[in-house]
Amino acid sequence: MATAVLDHETDFDGWRAAARRFRLAGVEPAQARFVVRGSEASGDLFSTEAFEETAPRRETAFTVPKAFVEVAQEVILHRSADRFDLLYRLLWRLRDQPDLMKVVSDRDVADALERARNVSRASHKMKAFVRFRLIGDEDGELYVAWFEPAHRVLEKTSGFFVRRFTTMRWSILTPDGSCFWDGEALTFGPGARLEDAPQDDEVEEFWKTYYASTFNPARLKTRTMQGEMPKRYWKNLPEAQLIPELVAASRARTETMIQATPTEPNARLSKAIARSARDGSFEEGFVASTLDELKHAVQACRRCPLWRDATQGVCGEGPRQAKLMIVGEQPGDQEDLAGRPFVGPAGQVLDAALAEAGIDRGDVFITNAVKHFKHEPRGKRRLHKTPVGSEISACRWWLDQERRLVKPVLTLALGATASLAVLGRTVAVTQERGQPLTQPDGSLVTITVHPSYLLRLPDEATKARERERFVADLKRVRASL
Ligand code: URA
Repeated sequence: MATAVLDHETDFDGWRAAARRFRLAGVEPAQARFVVRGSEASGDLFSTEAFEETAPRRETAFTVPKAFVEVAQEVILHRSADRFDLLYRLLWRLRDQPDLMKVVSDRDVADALERARNVSRASHKMKAFVRFRLIGDEDGELYVAWFEPAHRVLEKTSGFFVRRFTTMRWSILTPDGSCFWDGEALTFGPGARLEDAPQDDEVEEFWKTYYASTFNPARLKTRTMQGEMPKRYWKNLPEAQLIPELVAASRARTETMIQATPTEPNARLSKAIARSARDGSFEEGFVASTLDELKHAVQACRRCPLWRDATQGVCGEGPRQAKLMIVGEQPGDQEDLAGRPFVGPAGQVLDAALAEAGIDRGDVFITNAVKHFKHEPRGKRRLHKTPVGSEISACRWWLDQERRLVKPVLTLALGATASLAVLGRTVAVTQERGQPLTQPDGSLVTITVHPSYLLRLPDEATKARERERFVADLKRVRASL
């Protein structure tokens, strides 16, 4: 048996160096053993003879496909004890089958891709469910979060928090390790215990209020609840305490939301997602056949850099058969956290105006031109930034898929960004507002202002007048349907 000792559980470089030596020395997978220093499995290390290269070398050097390295870097973070063996088996088999990683039906390849997906999901959950609590220390405010990730994704995911909370000082504690951002540099330390983290504070109150106002009854569905907000995370989520109350209050909304519940991605979609994670392309071979598929797929979108700083991609919602599609600009702060379009202040303006115009929001498919929240940090806030042309055109690919699936009779574009995305040309909103613009496919497009324009107007009289015009535009839309 050839044994390699790795420095820690996610020691990718150590594994790579040892696996390379093993393969060059012709060590068969069944004869290779990888143990982590200090782990239970390393207990009998003293009785293990150091690995000596005795067999004649079959190879002198080799290269492996980039796809393998990328998958391996993810799989190393998986908690399964046999991950090193699986990766070595793949590395070994790549010698005779250089295209092995493309054979997604192969059991080892499928297993590795599945584990890589689990890791990526754990990282996504961490972005969504880490909750900081405010404590003070001698240097001022410090935010501390306790989190138990399903896989060892702390390091991989920490960059997200640096980008998102650049100006704050914070620390994330997990059983595997901890990290600390002092506003300038990120450092990593040993694992922690729940008792090391603070338990209560005012930020917690904020989360509770926030969650109560954006409560998503789809979380009541057991499968969704386990998939999207697994119980393992509950104990650290202050808002989870509110669930029983909210359950009682939200029965009526539950049915509608449940219908919109995402399902697990199918094999074709998984393949497309894996491809996107590898090289950022989604174009070839992937055409979503349902809106749920789109919702899953957008989470792997790398078509422009906006995904990096957003919590998640936010697709549209509403009936697939909707006659009316409303397109906004991009998710805002609240939409980014909730994963739903128009649930923040602009959404409230839109909801009220729709109701006044006699349009039921439940009949409308509501989406955005850009699916990720573009923003810049300003103190503790995330300030909206208008997407640029290249981001709008990169994201148009998603909007076009939504339009292809929903096939609305009329699309209402809110503001300049939406108009550019829908019509493919720059539009002077004030000049073209309210006109029915017939499209080559026979559908209609109408343009009006964005509801956040109404929110920004400084004096009340102008605001009331402009709001009336907005409602009038919506009434015209309703009449033309
Ligand atoms: N503004 C938008 O354009 N879309 C949203 O979803 C929220 C605010």
